[in-house]
This record gives sequence, structure tokens and C-alpha cells, in this order.
Amino acid sequence: MAFSFVASLVSVAIVFYETASIIFPLKISVYWKIACTVLLLLGAFKNILFQIIGGGMFFAPNLPHGVILAGALLYNLLIVALLLSVVKDAVWLFWKACHLLGVCRGDFPAGKASGAVLALAVILTLYGTWEAIRVPDVAIHDLSLPGLSEEFEGKKMALLVDLHASSLNRRPLIQAIVEKTNALSPDIVLLPGDFVDGLARDRKDDLEPLSRLRAPLGIWGTSGNHEYYSGYADWTKLLSEWGVALLENRHVVLSSGSGKLVIAGLPDQQGARFGFAAPDVKEALRGAPADVPVILMAHRPEDAAENAEAGVTLQLSGHTHGGMMPVLDKIVARFNGGYLRGWYDVGTMKLYVSPGTSLWNGFPLRLLNPAEITLMILHRAR
Ligand SMILES: [Fe+2]
Repeated sequence: MAFSFVASLVSVAIVFYETASIIFPLKISVYWKIACTVLLLLGAFKNILFQIIGGGMFFAPNLPHGVILAGALLYNLLIVALLLSVVKDAVWLFWKACHLLGVCRGDFPAGKASGAVLALAVILTLYGTWEAIRVPDVAIHDLSLPGLSEEFEGKKMALLVDLHASSLNRRPLIQAIVEKTNALSPDIVLLPGDFVDGLARDRKDDLEPLSRLRAPLGIWGTSGNHEYYSGYADWTKLLSEWGVALLENRHVVLSSGSGKLVIAGLPDQQGARFGFAAPDVKEALRGAPADVPVILMAHRPEDAAENAEAGVTLQLSGHTHGGMMPVLDKIVARFNGGYLRGWYDVGTMKLYVSPGTSLWNGFPLRLLNPAEITLMILHRAR
């Protein structure tokens, strides 16, 4: 409640700022200015409005896809226009300073600048929202793992994270992701969390295509924070019925001929808040065979140093969504131990942070930050 109150206050402040900065100076009638401000207000309060109309969770209301998408577009426009308005106003301040110093002449073209900001914001919003909700491309990585046995040379490992099935990311998208992943013929599929937003009774059909994933060495997962918000017990039961084996503070030893590979998983740290297990890497690796590479799924990247210390060879994470867009990505990295997307060396451990395979419906925007189905081809380190 406190969160939604503070978020509402901030949203109102943003709408007032944008109205003053880009709507008011436009050379359009007052009726159009009022209409633009009302649209921004609808975007600002979409979560509250959607919950009143559709019920369900605050960030996962039960409404038709088109309604959720319309709300998402308005909210995305609000955020993109905010960043562009700040840039425009910085230029305006610079112009004023030059004017006072006698360097610039004439008036700042406020109407034209506001029109340009609004037009650019609309274009970036449409593009960024499309980028967020389309079927992702495949990103292929050749991965050298120290200690990998000959039998695992060339094995393919698919990574799908942050699927966030919701009233926005519905069954057709999840199904397309599953089909695209199966077409890669992975030997192992790993799903380190944030499968869903919404209760099992509402979203079960949207996530069900996961039951069609195929991989001879198994489909393994672990929880993300959103599983706890969405009814952890119901979702973990469904996932195991669909063939996704959850590794929460435990590991399995995969075999191929005489070769072995350890796959381990940690539950998300939100588990402890909801009365479930907290992540414990020592427990997860207890009894794991020595001299066998350990691949660890941990939804968040921030505890990478501790996991490296515990003897993990490769950590696979998500959660950051790659920061969604420039500027915001700096803030996201600060809250995630400095990690955002891509490869990191943490001591002797490799860390890969996926930008996510889909996107959270609370802010579905991607600019210069595409989603991906990740495919890693394992190689022996030379
Ligand atoms: Fe997450």
C-alpha cells in the first residue's frame, strides 16, 4: 500500500512536469493539451486502474491483452518522455545561460523543441514496446569450461529466464519461445526463475507450453522473486508436473558416458520473506563430486562472489532484464551488485547475466537491449 501511494505521488509529479515541459508549449488547442495530459495520467495510474477494473495482482491484473498493452504503451511513453524532457530542459537552461552571456540571440524554439520531444518519445515508445513483446532472437555463445569431460564437448545448453508469463505475455509468446528453443535441439534447458506474474488459476494456460520443452539431459529450474509473489506452492507443483525439475539448494550430477557435470540451483532470496528456504550455496553443493564443473542457477547475479568462493564454475542469472533502457540501466546495475547483462569474471568463476527471454508487464520496454533465447555450446577449456 505504501509502495503504491509513493509510486502514485511520483507519477503525478512526472505528469505535471511533462505537461509543463512538453505539452503546454505545443502550438495546439487547449482541448488537445488537456487530452494529452489525461492520457499521461491514465498511463501513470494504469496499475491502480487495472486492478480496480480487472482484479488480480497489482502488477498482474486479469484483463484482455489489448487493454494491458494500451496501458503499457501509455506508461512507457510517460517514462521515455521524462528522459527526453530532462534533456530538452537541460538544453533550454544552456540556451538561457548563453543568452545571459550574450552568446546566443533570439528565443528558444520551445514549441518546436516540445513537438520534437513528443514525436521522438512516441517513436521510441512504439519501437521499445515492440522490442519487449516480440519473440526473441537466439544468442549463441561458445563456452569453455575448465574440467569439462570429453563426453560433454559440444553439448548444447539453452537458458530461458524472466519469461514473466502474464496477461501481457500470453500463451502464444511462451509457445513460440518453446518451439524456437526446441528447434535448437538443446541437450539441457535451464530456467533460473521469474516464470510468471499472476496466480496459477489465472495464468496456468499461458505458461503450460513449458511442458513441451525437450532436452535429453533434463529441464532444470529454480525460483525467481516473482514466483513468491504469485503463489509459490501452486506454481512449483505445476512446474514439476510439466517436467521442470526445480533445484532449490540442491544439485544433480548429469552423466554422459563416463563424463559428469553438476547442475545446481538456489531459490531466490524472496523465499525467506514468504516462509520458504533462503539461498544457501554450501547446502546446494554439499556432496557434489570434486573435479567436476559446477553450473549454478541463481536468479539474481548479486551474490556471485560468494558463489565463486563456494567453488562454482559458471553462474547463470537473469533478473536485471538488461536494465530495460539507457540511463535506467545504470540504476538497475547499482541494485544488482554492478551486474547488468553479458559475461563477467568473478574470481575464477564465469557469470552470465541474461537480459531475459521476455519482459515484466509492469514496464515492458526495451531500448538498445534486446531479449534473447540463450544457447551455450560447451567446450573443454584448452
Ligand atoms: Fe526477478
